[in-house]
Amino acid sequence: MDNIVIKTIADEKEIEYLRDKSSFNYTYDQLTIDSLKKLFKLKDSLYLLAKSGDEFVGFCSVDIDWWENNYFFLREILVNPNFQKLGVGQQLMVRCIKHAKDSGAVGVVTETANDNFPMQKLSEKLNFTKWENPQWEEGITYKLVF
Ligand SMILES: CC(C)(COP(=O)(O)OP(=O)(O)OC[C@H]1O[C@@H](n2cnc3c(N)ncnc32)[C@H](O)[C@@H]1OP(=O)(O)O)[C@@H](O)C(=O)NCCC(=O)NCCS
Repeated sequence: MDNIVIKTIADEKEIEYLRDKSSFNYTYDQLTIDSLKKLFKLKDSLYLLAKSGDEFVGFCSVDIDWWENNYFFLREILVNPNFQKLGVGQQLMVRCIKHAKDSGAVGVVTETANDNFPMQKLSEKLNFTKWENPQWEEGITYKLVF
C-alpha cells in the first residue's frame, strides 16, 4: 500500500484512463466509459482512482442514480489483479461510503454477481447485508443503512 496514491477524479476527461482496464470478468468498455461519463455529471458523484506511479491500481465510484430516495449506489469497484488482497478495494469502498454519509445519504447499495465471492466477502466485511431487490434478481443486492 506504501506507494499507492488514491485521488479523486476531478474532470470527466480523466475517465478515459479507465478504458480497457479489467479484472475478473469486468472490463471498462465503451458502453461503461460512456455511462460513467454521464453519471459523473450528477450531483455528489465520487470517482476514486488508485495508482502506483503510472500503473493502474484500482477504481471505485458512487453516485445518486438509485431508485430509492437518498440512497447512493456504489456502482464500480475494480482492483488490478497485481494489486489485489492488499486492502485497496476495502479502502476505496470505505471512502465512497463515507462520502455518501457526509453527503446526507441514508445508506449505500451495491450489486454483485452470484459467483463473485471476493465482492460478496468485501461487502459483508463492511457490514452490507443482502437485500431482496424487486428490480434485480439475477445477482445479489447489498445494502448498508446508516
Ligand atoms: C472485489 C475486489 C474489488 C476486492 O479488491 P481487493 O483490493 O483485492 O480487496 P481487499 O484486499 O481490500 O480485501 C478486503 C476484504 O475483501 C474480501 N476479499 C477480497 N478478495 C477476496 C478473495 N479473493 N476471496 C475472498 N475474500 C476476498 C476479504 O473479506 C478481505 O478482507 P481480509 O483481507 O481481511 O480477508 C477485487 O477482487 C476485484 O477487483 N475484483 C474484480 C472486479 C469486481 O469483481 N468488482 C466488483 C463488481 S460488482
